[in-house]
Formats: sequence, structure tokens, C-alpha cells
Amino acid sequence: MTQTAPTPTHLVQQRYRAPEPSGPTQWNPVLDVLHRHRSVRRYLTDPVTDDTLRLLISAAQSAPTSSNLQVWSVIAVRDPERRARLAALPGNQVHILQAPVLLVWTADFARLRQLAADREAPLDGADYLESSYVGFIDAALAAQNAVVAAESLGLGTVYLGALRNNPEDVAAELNLPPQVFAVFGLLVGHPDPSEDARVKPRLPQGAVLHHETYDLAAQRDHVADYESRIAEFYAEQELSHSWTERVLARLASEESLNGRHRLRESLANHGFRLK
Ligand SMILES: Cc1cc2nc3c(=O)[nH]c(=O)nc-3n(C[C@H](O)[C@H](O)[C@H](O)COP(=O)(O)O)c2cc1C
Repeated sequence: MTQTAPTPTHLVQQRYRAPEPSGPTQWNPVLDVLHRHRSVRRYLTDPVTDDTLRLLISAAQSAPTSSNLQVWSVIAVRDPERRARLAALPGNQVHILQAPVLLVWTADFARLRQLAADREAPLDGADYLESSYVGFIDAALAAQNAVVAAESLGLGTVYLGALRNNPEDVAAELNLPPQVFAVFGLLVGHPDPSEDARVKPRLPQGAVLHHETYDLAAQRDHVADYESRIAEFYAEQELSHSWTERVLARLASEESLNGRHRLRESLANHGFRLK
């Protein structure tokens, strides 16, 4: 029996597990890929070719970049032993061992520092928190373009913020010079169909889309609505706790940041002055 493709209405409603919003009047393949996104945490061992990698990177480099500074770089890690050492760092995420490529996205000021040093030119503006933000934002925009490109090719991905649990060890493993900081990892590979990961519903649009001015009072109702919808998803994935319990636990304390409470210190160790 042939499966019928989900309609745009189905895909949008699936994103919220809600009968609203009503079906879109516009649709195209890009919207299709975006709405189907789900993180993949189980991979087949099939390789991701160099050709595909180059395409992901050209998609990443097609992202906007603040003032065309292009203050990011990415390290493609394929070596299974290196991946195993990195997998041992951030809380034992076995999918790092399975996926054929780990892309480590960095905020990179070393390139511009080198240019400035070659010309004996000042680069004092790079020492400000603002510039570090630019590096982090640029890296994120580039990575997300790579995610969309990968998913459009039928590949799966998952971000690994957990690389920031041990930034010094990650930097040592990847030979990162000062002024280059690993923002997050991104696994890319062929999804193992046995994982059966579903599209995770998001907060209702009313929670995140404010018209003209911000409305905090409405948030409680939107979250209550969301809890009832995501409960179904959690039950299917055999996960306990409500969304509220999960997010509050994630940010409850210094310990719950799993080492990332040291970020300011780690950035300073990597030559980011954050003035
Ligand atoms: C910056 C960033 C860091 C993340 N870090 C991790 C991680 O370390 N491990 C993991 O399994 N998922 C990680 N994720 C994936 C999120 O958990 C996931 O995107 C979120 O739960 C929504 O699920 P979905 O991507 O399937 O829609 C990360 C996502 C982002 C954007």
C-alpha cells in the first residue's frame, strides 16, 4: 500500500499537535522540510560523502553573517577514535559514536586576529561581549542552514550543546587556538528508521508571537494549553514529567547546567575578554 504524503495542513498542525492554526494557503518544499524537522539520535553507519559535506558547508556559508565578518569556522570530525573521545566528554551521548560526521561549529576570531597582527592593526572591538555574540550568532545561523540542507537531502541531525560542558577538553581535542571557541556540535548522518522519533510539538503561536507589544499575562494559559498537547508526545516516547517540570529542572541550579556555569571562565581561557 502506498502511503499518502502528509498535507501542509497536517504538517503545520503536527508542529503544535493542535487543530489550529488552520491550513496554510502557501506551501513549498522549503516549508515542507522545516516543518518535518525532528532531532535524530540514532543513526545508520552509512557514510556522509565529501560531496555532501561540501554542499552542507556551502549552504552554511550562504547564511547571513553580521557585517560579512564570517567569524565562524567548523571542524568536521570523522575519525571514530576522536569521536569516541568527544563522546566520552559530554554525558555519554552514544549517538556521537554512531553518526559518521560530527561538525563542531566555532566562534572564530583567530582568523581576524591574525590579519590584524600581520598588519599591526588594532582589533580592540573584538574584545567586547558584543563581538562574541556576533561569533555565536553567526555560527548558529550557519549551522542551522546546514541542518535544513541536510534534512532536505534526507539526512538527520542533532545539535550537541553538551560540548560546552567541557570546553577546555574539546578545544584540546580539536587543537583550537586562542580566540576559537566551540559553540556546539552537530551530528549528521542517515537516520536509523527504528528510532521512530516524532515531531516534537512547540508552544502555541500565541505564546511566542506578540503583536506590537509584549504580553506576559497570557503566557500561563498558553503553557497550560501546551502541557496538554505535549503530554501526548511524552507518553508516546515513554518520557515522564511535564514540559514545565523539565524546563524548570534544566535551569534550576548551577549543577543543572552540567558544567556550563563556567562558560564565562572558559571563554576567558580561550582569549575572549567579554568587556
Ligand atoms: C543549541 C542546541 C543544543 C542542543 N544540545 C543537545 C544535546 O547536547 N543533546 C541532545 O540530545 N540534543 C540537543 N539538542 C536538541 C534539542 O534537545 C532539540 O532540538 C529539542 O528538544 C527540540 O526537539 P526537536 O529538535 O526534535 O524538534 C540541542 C539543540 C540545540 C538547538
